Amino acid sequence: MAEVKKIAVIAGDGIGPEVVAEAVKVLKKTEELFGYKFELEYGLFGGIAIDEKGTPLPQETLEMCQRADAVLLGAVGGPKWDNNPKELRPETGLLGIRKALGLFSNIRPAVVFDCLKDASTLKPEVLEGTDLIVVRELTGGIYFGEKFRREGANGQEAVDTCVYNVQEVERIVRQAFEIAQKRSKRLASVDKANVLETSRLWRETVNRIAPEYPDVELEHVLVDNCAMQLLRRPSSFDVIVTENMFGDILSDEAAMLTGSIGMLSSASLGEGSFGLYEPVHGSAPDIAGQGIANPIATILSVALMFQLTFGYAEAGQVIENAVKSVLDAGHRTGDIAVDKSKAIGTKEMGDLIVAAMSR
Ligand code: NAI
Ligand code: MG
Repeated sequence: MAEVKKIAVIAGDGIGPEVVAEAVKVLKKTEELFGYKFELEYGLFGGIAIDEKGTPLPQETLEMCQRADAVLLGAVGGPKWDNNPKELRPETGLLGIRKALGLFSNIRPAVVFDCLKDASTLKPEVLEGTDLIVVRELTGGIYFGEKFRREGANGQEAVDTCVYNVQEVERIVRQAFEIAQKRSKRLASVDKANVLETSRLWRETVNRIAPEYPDVELEHVLVDNCAMQLLRRPSSFDVIVTENMFGDILSDEAAMLTGSIGMLSSASLGEGSFGLYEPVHGSAPDIAGQGIANPIATILSVALMFQLTFGYAEAGQVIENAVKSVLDAGHRTGDIAVDKSKAIGTKEMGDLIVAAMSR
């Protein structure tokens, strides 16, 4: 009898509930195929929680997440709440939940599916075989450092400070080494150690820890060079780890290798195996309620949950293979279809993926 895994499900707003419903079908199918047991608990979050509970992150939703082994999140937000005061905005709930759950890294895979590589702006032969993960530090660096204005000799000056302490670097770097160990065992650590003191601390820390992971092949890459290499040789990367601002920029660059935002999954991790999994896209109010959203980003977020939180590597692979085979057979939602008149809906895509799952 497999151990029961608790998953907190917060569907959110707009297309959130539509894409999460398809991901839940995939969870059920995995139980059937592998004998795993998932206990799903549902909670209100985002705009819908503001409407029903008067706050984007109700205490009971947070407690439900804290009890769980992993969280599956759809998306939040929409025009209805855009002009609300800050404490009554869906995005405030997102920041709040990440903070309350101690999530200090954001993980974004960029996988190029062979049959979609013509859809990218890069040459197909450059993209061939690309399957990488960007691990971005989320709670430190220049975004959180002291900021102020002052009068200088030549008028007003603005100051942003970038601070990292050795523990912050160490925990994210260890996490990246551990993820690399579960993948192709190659880690690129990205910094600007030729210029920045925080980057020198970063690099020293990486080098000090590296001998504990002798099976992982480590390379140091300067951030400007990394931006170039991602376009020149994306398939040579496996895991990329970097600080907050560099990761913000590089993860968006890497995302564009793959084409549609409807395909991109993500994870936010803290200490231990707990993680929050969600598609990169938002609540897409422009297509909400029409049943046409692409559920693949959310379905691939479940695959990521299996790999990173539960250690169900084979089940994760089964999901990825099912997505691949459905795409190879030519099925497309509107966002990735060349011929929009042949596009299929959210439910159809989910059903096809579930049907294609096999061991
Ligand atoms: P968005 O990602 O929701 O939509 C951008 C464009 O991509 C839209 O044209 C949308 O139709 C399309 N799109 C997104 N996901 C898709 C999918 N699965 N299938 C097909 N097409 C898809 O970003 P936008 O429009 O900037 O934001 C909309 C709302 O979502 C805002 O309220 C924003 O604050 C919120 N948002 C929430 C996020 C979250 O919950 N983590 C992340 C980003 C935005
Ligand atoms: Mg960004």
